[in-house]
Amino acid sequence: MSEKIQMLKEKINQLKKDKDAVLLVHNYQVNEVQEVADFIGDSLELSRKAQNIESKMIIFCGVDFMAETASILNPEKKVILPNLSARCPMAAQLPLKTLLKTKNENPGVPVVLYVNTLAEAKAECDVTCTSANAVQIIQKLDKDKVIFGPDWNLGYYVKKRVSNVELIPVPKYGFCNTHKLFKDGIEALELKKKYPEADLLVHPECDPGFQDNADYVLSTGGMYRHCKESSKKIFIIGTEIGMVDRLRREIPSKTFLPANPNAECPSMKRITLQNTYEALVNEDPIVKVPKEICIKALKPIERMLEMSK
Ligand code: 13P
Ligand code: SF4
Repeated sequence: MSEKIQMLKEKINQLKKDKDAVLLVHNYQVNEVQEVADFIGDSLELSRKAQNIESKMIIFCGVDFMAETASILNPEKKVILPNLSARCPMAAQLPLKTLLKTKNENPGVPVVLYVNTLAEAKAECDVTCTSANAVQIIQKLDKDKVIFGPDWNLGYYVKKRVSNVELIPVPKYGFCNTHKLFKDGIEALELKKKYPEADLLVHPECDPGFQDNADYVLSTGGMYRHCKESSKKIFIIGTEIGMVDRLRREIPSKTFLPANPNAECPSMKRITLQNTYEALVNEDPIVKVPKEICIKALKPIERMLEMSK
C-alpha cells in the first residue's frame, strides 16, 4: 500500500472519531474506501443501518439515491456524499413525469419502485424495494397488477418467482449500463466449464440470459453471505468488480473469479479516498432532499423496511 493511501486512511479514521461520523460504504466501492468503512453492505443493509444511526454525521460512500435514502431516514443529520456527481444513471431513467403518466394510465394500481430512483419518484410510490427483497415485497403486496420500475431485468427476476402478478414496467425499459456489460455471460460460462465445481452468482440487474444460466441470482449482500456460508471453494461473480475486492479481502481462504473484470460502475468509482477525506474535513457536500419530498418518500421506504423484517 502506498504511503499516501496509508496516511489518508489514518487521517480518515481519526476524523471519524473527532467528528462523531460514521462511514457507510456500498459493496461496489474501491478497496481502500471499503477498508475505512464502519459498515459495508448492499442497498437494503445500508438502509437498515441508516435507520439506526446514533452518530452526528453520515459519510455515504455510494451513489446519489443511496445517500438520499439515508438522508430521508435521518432528516436531522448531516448526510454527506463525497462527490455529488456519483449519480446512478438508472435512477435518472425514471423522471417524475414518466412515473406520473404511467400512474394516470393505471388508476388504483400500486407502485413498487426499486430504491435506484430519485427521491421525487420515491415520493410517488407505495413501497420501495431492493434486489434483496423485491420478491418478498411483491408477494406480500399480493396484487394482480403492480407498476414496477425502473429496472426491467429486476422485473424479469421477480416475475419468474411470482408468476401470478402482472408487472407494468416504468419506464418501458430501464437498465443498468454496468450490468449490461455481462450480456448473456459467455465469459462466465467459459469459466464455469474450466471450473465446474464453482458456483456462478449473478445479480438480478443482469440480462435474463445470464440470470437463467446462474446457480444463484442474488443481491450483493446475498452474494457475500452465500460465499461465506457455502462449503464451495470457488465462485464466479456476476456483478460489479468492487464486490470481488470485498470477497477476496474478507474471505481469503476461497477463490473469487470476476465474470467480467471490466464491469466497473463509473458512478460508484467517483468516490475516492481523497474526496472521502476532504468530505470529512469540510463536512460537505451535504445531500439535500426538499422537506416535502422527504416527508412523502419516507413512508414507502419505511414500509419496505417493515415488510422485509
Ligand atoms: P445491491 O442492493 O444488490 O447492492 O445493488 C445495488 C446496485 O446498485 C446494483 O447495481
Ligand atoms: Fe446504478 Fe448500475 Fe452503478 Fe448500480 S451498478 S449504481 S444500478 S449504474
